[in-house]
Amino acid sequence: MNSEDLQPLLDSPTHQGNENILNRYLNNVQNKNLYLATFAAVLGPLSFGFALGYSSPAIAELTNVDDPRLALDKDAASWFGSIVTIGAAAGGIFGGWIVDRIGRKLSLMLCALPFVLGFTLIVSAQNVWMLLLGRLMTGLASGVTSLVVPVYISETSHSRVRGTLGSCVQLMVVTGIVGSYIAGMLLDWRWLAVLCCIPPVFMVILMCFMPETPRYLIQQDKTSEAMAALKFLRGPNADHEWEYRQIESSGDDQETSLAFSELRSPAIYKPFLIGIFMMFFQQFTGINAIMFYADTIFEEANFKNSSLASVIVGLVQVAFTAVAAMIVDKAGRKVLLFISGIIMAISAGVFAIYFKLTTTVVNNSSGLQSLATGTPISPVDHLAWLALASMGLFIAGFAIGWGPIPWLIMSEIFPLRARGVASGVCVVTNWGCAFLVTKEFHELMVSLTSYGTFGLFAGFCALNVLFTAFCVPETKGKTLEQIEAHFRGSGSVQEYGSFADIQ
Ligand code: BGC
Repeated sequence: MNSEDLQPLLDSPTHQGNENILNRYLNNVQNKNLYLATFAAVLGPLSFGFALGYSSPAIAELTNVDDPRLALDKDAASWFGSIVTIGAAAGGIFGGWIVDRIGRKLSLMLCALPFVLGFTLIVSAQNVWMLLLGRLMTGLASGVTSLVVPVYISETSHSRVRGTLGSCVQLMVVTGIVGSYIAGMLLDWRWLAVLCCIPPVFMVILMCFMPETPRYLIQQDKTSEAMAALKFLRGPNADHEWEYRQIESSGDDQETSLAFSELRSPAIYKPFLIGIFMMFFQQFTGINAIMFYADTIFEEANFKNSSLASVIVGLVQVAFTAVAAMIVDKAGRKVLLFISGIIMAISAGVFAIYFKLTTTVVNNSSGLQSLATGTPISPVDHLAWLALASMGLFIAGFAIGWGPIPWLIMSEIFPLRARGVASGVCVVTNWGCAFLVTKEFHELMVSLTSYGTFGLFAGFCALNVLFTAFCVPETKGKTLEQIEAHFRGSGSVQEYGSFADIQ
């Protein structure tokens, strides 16, 4: 794997001409229906955010519930939180399989079923097993959604807005997480589960009126439906027949499935490895461990209301993910990944130093006195601002790059016929690593100490930066077909036809 940018290819004179033609085409495009289709699709990630966030308020109640059949002990509570990630990893395998067989739209609509069934099981649970099975089902739905929605959005979008629309996936995930934290302050765990059924139901209803992606339809030889989908998505003024021809002639669609032997081809294994490593690195930043640890940090800073603490952390994520979505098509993916990786490496490093200082200070505590009041200050309180600041910075750093962009890049870099399988492998890697990090976090804190654990995360964040520099291609402003041509190393992008074709 090396880091050739798309730039040399795109600077060629033929390419300049092609870019002009593409720009002329895009100038006539109307995005209203594309935004509508994206809105319908991202109700999926909203549902998955609700499913992820559900455990936090529900566990707080279910560990103290009166009914002994439903009361969660420490072990069951930890499974109630983490089993979603196992379901989601399984959802990645299942999603990768169905997305190429029944299509993107139907796969997405199908997700509503395990979401609603899972939450219904939770609402009607008679024992802990039913609660866990319900969580597993909502996890399965989350896994399929995390694969299908980025693919649906990237295949319906065009290069001018693909980054922004693709980043809305993560924006809706974090909005869903905060949504369930806030709703959890007002509703009990059963009513909260009922509320969690609303986004997937709306998603199904709206998706009935949205088209399948033109690229999938073209691959299935459904010409007239693909034309109709493009016409709907690009509006009446765009020459959608021209875009149809570009996708059709991309050269990848003659084959509809991937042969195992093709894994030796750089056009397949390069994007495959980039996708897998991006998911690995996203999880080994330690984001889920840090989010999980947020309550404790806030408590140490004398912030007693830990549900409010989670809401604040969530809102920081929403705000910075929104910033990323707004600028990603202008700034580019790599710049944001760099900024994000550097901020996280520094803040995780400071976090590690905080732990080093507090343990040392506690050990040598000599009874510090507050100058103003004369009361003793706990050394941990004294440094709490450092923990809060570095945690806030870390979360903001993640949200601006490594949160949304791995999902975006996953949906952009695979050739059409490898998209289902390859995205499935990425989703399994992501959720598998999420499970590992969250489940092993406590062990890690014991064996490596807090200082060592956060130092390790800082190290991984620094590696992220190197990985971005050497391995991640810049996909800003490119069509999916151009990105595919880059990995094929064919040295030329597809011809765009002439101006006459567009007007
Ligand atoms: C990650 C999840 C994480 C979520 C919220 C996603 O991009 O894959 O593991 O929980 O963001 O931050």
